[in-house]
Amino acid sequence: MRTRQVPFFDLTAQYLTIREEIDAAMSAVLRSGRFILGEEVAAFEREFAAYCGTAHGVGVASGTEALQLALMACGLRPLDSVITVANVSAPTAAAIVSAGARPVFVDVDLDTHTMDPRKLEEYLRRGGGPGGVSAVIPVHLYGQPADMDPILHVAREHGLRVIEDACQAHGTEYKGRRVGSIGDAGCFSFYPTKNLGAYGDGGMVVTNDDAVAAELRMLRSYGETVKYRNSMHGINSRLDEIQAAVLRVKLRHLDRWNSVRHFHATLYSGRLKGLDLETPVERRDASHIYHLYVVRTAKRESLQVWLGERGIGTSIHYPLPLHLQQAYEELGYRKGDLPVTERCCHEVLSLPMYPELSGEAIEYVCDAIRAFEAS
Ligand SMILES: Cc1ncc(COP(=O)(O)O)c(C=O)c1O
Repeated sequence: MRTRQVPFFDLTAQYLTIREEIDAAMSAVLRSGRFILGEEVAAFEREFAAYCGTAHGVGVASGTEALQLALMACGLRPLDSVITVANVSAPTAAAIVSAGARPVFVDVDLDTHTMDPRKLEEYLRRGGGPGGVSAVIPVHLYGQPADMDPILHVAREHGLRVIEDACQAHGTEYKGRRVGSIGDAGCFSFYPTKNLGAYGDGGMVVTNDDAVAAELRMLRSYGETVKYRNSMHGINSRLDEIQAAVLRVKLRHLDRWNSVRHFHATLYSGRLKGLDLETPVERRDASHIYHLYVVRTAKRESLQVWLGERGIGTSIHYPLPLHLQQAYEELGYRKGDLPVTERCCHEVLSLPMYPELSGEAIEYVCDAIRAFEAS
């Protein structure tokens, strides 16, 4: 058997391509002696907001807290419900709970794995569940946008705020606009493996709403208006100077990295054509930045083992939907409540995807999948 190692991701390979820029940026911060809310954070907030096409960017400590604080700044009332999807990892729902609200899950579209606007409409038309619904959080999953126009339309009809979970979608466009700039606020994670990743945790909320931005600046820093003057309850959730300096360097490379990922995805999808597995479907009028390259197959478990035996790293995003997780038992969902979500969680498999991946490695992965089909 021919084997080589193709890791699922490789953050060192990326660092080595930009080592001089990163090292210089980090040591400048160390020499400055300023580590929290200094010039690097302010500059990165301006640059990333401009990149997304919004008036404001507020750096926070993680994507999860970006979502939590965005909900709070958008006027969430305790015990309100917030509608989102369940084929994701815990943070989106955890943020809703930390903001004092109750998550409600609606089903997704099988092709794009994102919120099905018809299911959102159905839920709201039925009158929702207990407590008022105050917001919707569509997730731009794997780097592909949710269908924002119908989601916004339904949300506005029902007076709901829309907060985009863009934690996997740095630079994705929907009908010519970058995600994060479409709803009331957009939330990003800079977790190291993201398309724009820090060397630690980090996050940002972007928005065109002056009042939301002003409130976010207070909320992330103990509710302070000026030092030691607190006008509301807040938390400590700040992006630090070193991460901001790293992210400013990486932002300059993001569009190129996203294009290379797209190129890799095209290569994968071409080589996998005709096999008994579903390759990603790209939405028309939108871009896909391939944070993850995710295929669907009923033989997911055995394919994952097969690829692992051939030195190929894969992952499952995500194996158990949130509505069936023990942590959310009290919400009262049962197996079968979200059939498309459940099917996705049974069938998805993420293949290696990062800009530094070689064409030869992709061919090796595709050959291994072909051999699996023929076995
Ligand atoms: C869709 C989604 N939402 C929220 C988050 C939370 O981001 P973080 O890990 O920075 O808290 C992540 C990242 O893990 C994510 O992928």
